[in-house]
Amino acid sequence: AWSMEAYLEQVSAEIRKRVGKERVLLLISGGVDSTVVGGLLLQALPHEQVYLMYIDTGLMRKDESVEVERTLRSLGAKNLSIIHAEDEFLSALAGIDDPEEKRRIIGDLFITVQAREVEKLSIGDAFLAQGTLYTDMIESGKGVGKKAKVIKSHHNVRSPLVEAKREAGRIIEPLDRLYKDEVRRLGTTLGIGDQIIRRHPFPGPGLAVRILGEITPEKCAILREADSIFMDELKKRGLYDEIWQAFSVLLPVRSVGVTGDAREYGYVLALRAIISRDGMTADVYPFESKDLLEISSLITNSVREIGRVVYDISSKPPATIEWE
Ligand code: XMP
Repeated sequence: AWSMEAYLEQVSAEIRKRVGKERVLLLISGGVDSTVVGGLLLQALPHEQVYLMYIDTGLMRKDESVEVERTLRSLGAKNLSIIHAEDEFLSALAGIDDPEEKRRIIGDLFITVQAREVEKLSIGDAFLAQGTLYTDMIESGKGVGKKAKVIKSHHNVRSPLVEAKREAGRIIEPLDRLYKDEVRRLGTTLGIGDQIIRRHPFPGPGLAVRILGEITPEKCAILREADSIFMDELKKRGLYDEIWQAFSVLLPVRSVGVTGDAREYGYVLALRAIISRDGMTADVYPFESKDLLEISSLITNSVREIGRVVYDISSKPPATIEWE
């Protein structure tokens, strides 16, 4: 019978055979796929041969970088580079409010930082591992010439590093026969915690497209705090796994509120929660109003800068999942 344990044995043996005594580099995004590849490499190979790199753009969720590091260390990571590029990204984004401009700046800077930091590792012609799934292979049409789907296209498609490795035949894609739910099961078999395995999809540009308009470190902090309350509540209420993707959006308007006798202008936060199969279409998650009301109060009571919370009741189409 086909079991995850047997598959793990087989794929580990394949990795060992292909890599031999050479080195492998893996760029970790913090998502399920790259983390599972990391766990797989560390399971298959001597830990010294595995080089992991994670770039903190300053646009990650609350405690995300710390959790990624903790997870990878617990899986045995030795050569782990956590690149703190928060200031670099936030200065590059200062004053920019156009969404596509934000995406372009982040994508370009990501590639620059990645190339610079990989160069510093001096690992020459190491293999490059990628978290490509079976569905990515179909959708990118491998040789059929179709474009890779949007969800994956963010940083890597244009990366000269990835292109060079591909040309040199130095790419390893150990998840390319698996569907997402199988990757999750493989991750569990490898001992990766639910916190990462069950995590909702997160866009490459991160919080940059969830802070509408100009991004500032202060807005990042406010959004991170509010969104972590939203996520914690979804988990506590047993709703997180019923929802395909949920997140908060910080709007570029101030709205009036009252504290005591004073009128105060606070930020407006929009909550989004959708059900979907693949992100191409989406239905609004039908919360019980009690849940929404309680979550709203928790957020406005704990995040002083937020004065008003709204729930986005638009399906896709016509709306997109993200606001930018
Ligand atoms: P939309 O907003 O297009 O989102 O309905 C569909 C899915 O794609 C994610 N998304 C992105 N992912 N880079 C990414 O890596 C992006 O620029 C980007 N924009 C949207 C979104 O979170 C949703 O899961």
